[in-house]
Amino acid sequence: MRPLQATLLLGVFGLQLASAQEDTREDGATIVDSPDPDNFVRRSGARATVLGDYVFIDGGEMTQLVNGKNLAEGHTMMNSTLWIDVSESWSPSTVAINVVKKPGPKLSLQAIWPGEDRSSFYIWGGRVMASDGRADGLSKSEMWRFTTGGEGGGQWASEIPNESDAFASLLLPQRGAYTTVNNTGYFVGGTVIQSSDPTLKVGMQPVPGMISFNMDTRTFSNDSTADISPFGTMLGGTAEYVPGYGPNGLVMLFGGYGYTLLPGFRDVEHTRQFDSVNFFDPVTKDWYWQRTTGDTPPARLDHCSVGVRSSSGTYEIFVYGGYDPMNKQTFDSVYVLSLPGFVWKQVKGDAPGGLRSGQTCVVVGNRQMLTIGGVDTYADQPWKAKDPFPQGLGIFDMTDLEWKNDFDSKAAAYDSPQMIKDWYSETGVQSVKWSTPETESLFTTASSDIVDVEQPEEKTVPAGAIAGGVVGGVAALALAGGLFWWLRRKKSAGSDDEAPESAKEVTSHQSSGSALPPSELPEKAHQREPVELHDQPKPGPPPVELE
Ligand SMILES: *[C@@H]1O[C@H](CO)[C@@H](O)[C@H](O)[C@H]1NC(C)=O
Ligand SMILES: *[C@@H]1O[C@H](CO)[C@@H](O)[C@H](O)[C@H]1NC(C)=O
Ligand SMILES: *[C@@H]1O[C@H](CO)[C@@H](O)[C@H](O)[C@H]1NC(C)=O
Ligand SMILES: *[C@@H]1O[C@H](CO)[C@@H](O)[C@H](O)[C@H]1NC(C)=O
Repeated sequence: MRPLQATLLLGVFGLQLASAQEDTREDGATIVDSPDPDNFVRRSGARATVLGDYVFIDGGEMTQLVNGKNLAEGHTMMNSTLWIDVSESWSPSTVAINVVKKPGPKLSLQAIWPGEDRSSFYIWGGRVMASDGRADGLSKSEMWRFTTGGEGGGQWASEIPNESDAFASLLLPQRGAYTTVNNTGYFVGGTVIQSSDPTLKVGMQPVPGMISFNMDTRTFSNDSTADISPFGTMLGGTAEYVPGYGPNGLVMLFGGYGYTLLPGFRDVEHTRQFDSVNFFDPVTKDWYWQRTTGDTPPARLDHCSVGVRSSSGTYEIFVYGGYDPMNKQTFDSVYVLSLPGFVWKQVKGDAPGGLRSGQTCVVVGNRQMLTIGGVDTYADQPWKAKDPFPQGLGIFDMTDLEWKNDFDSKAAAYDSPQMIKDWYSETGVQSVKWSTPETESLFTTASSDIVDVEQPEEKTVPAGAIAGGVVGGVAALALAGGLFWWLRRKKSAGSDDEAPESAKEVTSHQSSGSALPPSELPEKAHQREPVELHDQPKPGPPPVELE
């Protein structure tokens, strides 16, 4: 039996599990972390953040030409942290990518959490690249922080968090959705695999919950994500902090894959759709959701996203690339979600970067999205085809909705694209059908008018919340009942589902479910009779077998 992450969801990141880590380098040839632009081939799985005038890029894997040859089969882990100066304009084909030594673990798919004063960032989670797939070198008692002096460069140091026992008891997941609000970092979902957590015994474990790390007290907490998917799990999604709505702003989640937590049971596993958005208040940790309209992007994971406030007061989130394991498809276009309209628009036109997933994106120069790395998951040899973006760097002007050849450090402030402005003038926010009264009040009440939520025990529960709670409770019961029925039926049919290996086996992934609000889950879970699991064809060969 093949481990799930190698068959389906690790995509290109799973390739190294199969390809031997032979040292195929030519005599005297050296692999470097920042090769000459002509020698750069691909980068993927890195994370980036902007501190002052510098973009810092940490982790990920890459391939390059060495003496004119692409030794792609041994794509290598990044051993250094990279930085790029964005105080001056530049072209991706010539910009200097600088290197800082990294003493800590070399990781992919971690979280990167910049501090509020933008002088440092923490990383947490992520996975190592080991030929045997194990994270034996990873410490569960320390975390790593990078501090910059403000002129590019900087240094890494390890820190022992406060309440170190509680910290050490956390699993170490990878590929969660992460963002930072002031001095608190958030990480939602992810999975634990043997190359992310040295204590893991089984092959793969989805991780429910929302981890938050307070950089002032250096403490962690783990809160519920029961509202985001049947089991509160999410792999390969992104999170964006949207300030200005509600008393504390909101953290919104986009895309990803929702796992069940039952061995062998995959009926309610699904790619999370973009036709509704789940979000939470980062202080109260209350969850909300809202349906979206417009050009809803197809479900995906390992896309990237950025958010930006427009001069007219709307807030837009840009989602780029990613891949869909259900339909074996990688994406090339950009979608924009505008708030408070909750309307999606697809950016039509050229996509010079081609199909791409595993990239990371940041906002630079006011209105430009800088995308870093990415590969076409379903290409024959994802790591071998030279990236059409020089050095893996793509620049997208979010107002003009165009890919640019150069980064402009003096670009004007971000303003909503014309098609978004047209939507507000032609259709408008009054057309939004609010999914819950709570969401409506977050988006239609000015922040300053919202009553202080510092004392939740004194709040009376609004009627809408009670109704929602009842419906949610009924839904949970119905879902649990459905699962019980399914398991019993499967058992009486003589199936061997309790074996831990069966949790890793992909039985059926022919259609995608929906990231639906809890009240709609039973109906959805009922749509496919459990017995269909066995009738549906097995998924095609995973990318790992294409080599
Ligand atoms: C990182 O270090 C490892 C171990 O020394 C080496 O095999 C690999 O080639 C290095 N990667 C890069 C990009 O320099
Ligand atoms: C957070 O809590 C959930 C529920 O108890 C648990 O399953 C999960 O493993 C925890 N997360 C981490 C990272 O340890
Ligand atoms: C440790 O965390 C507690 C809160 O859990 C806080 O009161 C205390 O100040 C923290 N200590 C340090 C050294 O940050
Ligand atoms: C973030 O910091 C700003 C400025 O100090 C403050 O006004 C705001 O309330 C903080 N937001 C949250 C969610 O803590």
